Amino acid sequence: MPQFRTLDDADLKNKRVLLRIDLNVPTENGKVTDTTRIERIAPTITEIADKGGKAVILAHFGRPKGRDPKESLKPVAAEVARVIARPVGFADDCIGPEAEAAVEAMKSGDILCLENTRFHQGEEKNDPAFVAELAKLGDIWVSDAFSAAHRAHASTEGLGHKLPAYAGRTMQAELDALSKALEHPKKPVIAIVGGAKVSTKLELLENLVSKVDALVIGGAMANTFLLAQGIRVGKSLAERDMTDTALRILEKAEGAGCAVILPVDAVVACRFEAHAPSQSYGIDAIPGDGMILDIGPQSIERVKAAMDDAATLVWNGPFGAFELPPFDRGTVAAARHAAELTSAGRLVSVAGGGDTVAALNAAGVSDRFTYVSTAGGAFLEWMEGKPLPGVEVLRIK
Ligand code: 3PG
Ligand code: MG
Repeated sequence: MPQFRTLDDADLKNKRVLLRIDLNVPTENGKVTDTTRIERIAPTITEIADKGGKAVILAHFGRPKGRDPKESLKPVAAEVARVIARPVGFADDCIGPEAEAAVEAMKSGDILCLENTRFHQGEEKNDPAFVAELAKLGDIWVSDAFSAAHRAHASTEGLGHKLPAYAGRTMQAELDALSKALEHPKKPVIAIVGGAKVSTKLELLENLVSKVDALVIGGAMANTFLLAQGIRVGKSLAERDMTDTALRILEKAEGAGCAVILPVDAVVACRFEAHAPSQSYGIDAIPGDGMILDIGPQSIERVKAAMDDAATLVWNGPFGAFELPPFDRGTVAAARHAAELTSAGRLVSVAGGGDTVAALNAAGVSDRFTYVSTAGGAFLEWMEGKPLPGVEVLRIK
């Protein structure tokens, strides 16, 4: 039994399709600087149009408090038109007479983008009156915004209770990849979790140790775990008040039979800057005035070996200060190894989260992973084992 209805199940001809996508893309001076998210959803838009539907795009942009011209979706809609190489109409509001007239004027195959849903308070409040206003504009609702599915907002969740609901192609691919990575993975499963703070990834770590066979902890977060084990980390970034929590996670891992892999050596510098003079030290010999900025060569080899033993990899967060060369070496080496194993058919590799995507792009390996999610918060909540409202509403009951 499939869990979700997809575009394969929808009769789109002449239907007004309310299509929720994530257009929360990075911009600078009103220009879109990264079109990855737009490229991902492009096939859903064109498929709806090609099947004779009227694609009415709903999306949020930024976190405006009320209507704010600086957070208009208009320039982003123009970028969508450029990426899909088709005209995309625009209406200055997502509900009310203007939106209604624009939708009314659409012909089969047309594409229209409505203004930022967050210009109305009812969006984030998931207000039934606002949901009803949106629902007037469509016959069916297609959600292709996994990266906003952790929000129970009117356009990401509420509409799913009002109109026949379908997963778009990006949502479908995302759910399929995530299911392969943690819900029904090929074992053994290895997780890599990096980033700065244990405190922001606590729930994620606790959920993972009970699900995966091996957990590699990287980034400044690893320093907190090392400290907890009595290892001196010099001036490295660490959360000194989280060491008890770190010990609790290690205990939970042991109880669950999850091997925790921490660095055995580290690249240490005295300054947090690109190309700062640096040297590798064994983890029990970190100089008191030094800062750990990356995992060392022996740790890299251990991570690679652990990947060799795994069938599935799920990755969130870089190892070191990857934005400062050469302290991106550990992340790049591990990413390349994962890409090689994936290409050789030996590993299912799924990665996600803002920094992670940037790191994998910089390593030039994104397209060789099984799946790289463009979701930030939603990917984390999924790794925490939380149900995402925008996904749950799509489930066939
Ligand atoms: C994102 O960019 O991660 C999503 O679009 C969600 O945006 P939000 O964090 O403002 O809800
Ligand atoms: Mg965000």
